[in-house]
Amino acid sequence: MSEIRHIFVVGAGTMGSGIAQVAATSGYQVTLMDVDPDQLARALQVIDKSTAKLVSKGKLSEEQRQAALNIRTTQSLEDAAEADLVIEAATENPDIKFRIFRDLDRITRPEVILASNTSSISITAIAAATTRPDRVIGMHFFNPVPLMTLVEVVRGLSTSDPTTGTIIQVAESMGKVPVEVNDSPGFVSNRVLMPMINEAIFALQEGVASVQAIDTVMRLGMNHPMGPLYLADLIGLDVVLFILDVLQRDLGEDKYRPAPLLRKLVHAGHLGRKTGMGFYDYRTNPKGEPREFR
Ligand code: 3HC
Repeated sequence: MSEIRHIFVVGAGTMGSGIAQVAATSGYQVTLMDVDPDQLARALQVIDKSTAKLVSKGKLSEEQRQAALNIRTTQSLEDAAEADLVIEAATENPDIKFRIFRDLDRITRPEVILASNTSSISITAIAAATTRPDRVIGMHFFNPVPLMTLVEVVRGLSTSDPTTGTIIQVAESMGKVPVEVNDSPGFVSNRVLMPMINEAIFALQEGVASVQAIDTVMRLGMNHPMGPLYLADLIGLDVVLFILDVLQRDLGEDKYRPAPLLRKLVHAGHLGRKTGMGFYDYRTNPKGEPREFR
């Protein structure tokens, strides 16, 4: 396995920009790719703000911040030809992911590892879109990427030991703690987290307690840094719904059935922080005001 110097990140949304930032501040040369130029511009603004904050807290040096500000951007997947490692963080749509991996398989050198940050799509299925399933793996980061220490390293059916070992090293070099798990719907993180969030939404829908009360119970009673409804808004309610649908379908268990209130909010376009409304309203207060549901 050749040395990894240049990491190519596909997708400049919340996760892709965070991954690119952390890779750059860890000494990698980074290219961030997105088909949407506005998304790339937004990502650079987010990276600018995040690294400024981390420098002001003494968590990053000026040189590290400069490295992040020097991230190259491109709208062309073809530029992955120069990469030593690809981390894909595009939209959670299986057909789009399969197409990206088919293209990456053609574009990149044959020895290059293709990692996916997918939160719920099968790594084994993504790998099957390529001719190198032994070099396809899940590298599941957590939001906000610069602050969260875990990387769930997901082995597909054919992922090799050398591929897993390399990705564990890369995650450690980014200051993260990698944990190896096998490919299964939701992996470990979302299989455990999503039912908790879903149950909180059922409790809200049934009028057991208010948004604020449910979140306060979990923050102060369980010492969670955020309540489940506030966290759902951070993750994105469309993402939460998508993962619950995958869990219910692929594990065949109704215990993962998404709460109807969650589906209703997604239908309304109230997707959480990113749209200014979810279980909280962020339009006037950026920290969010709890909404009333009846
Ligand atoms: N970069 C730099 N700084 C950031 C940042 C970022 N991306 N995001 C937040 N911060 C800063 C804030 O600005 C704040 O700065 P300040 O102290 O100067 O005001 C500081 O971090 C602390 O933030 P907060 O005061 O808001 O509060 P917390 O002490 O609660 O810390 C947190 C924030 C680390 C995000 C903490 O609330 C937490 O751990 N929350 C849970 C997050 C979580 O569970 N994430 C996983 C989601 S699941 C997932 O991603 C998987 C997917 O597949 C669904």
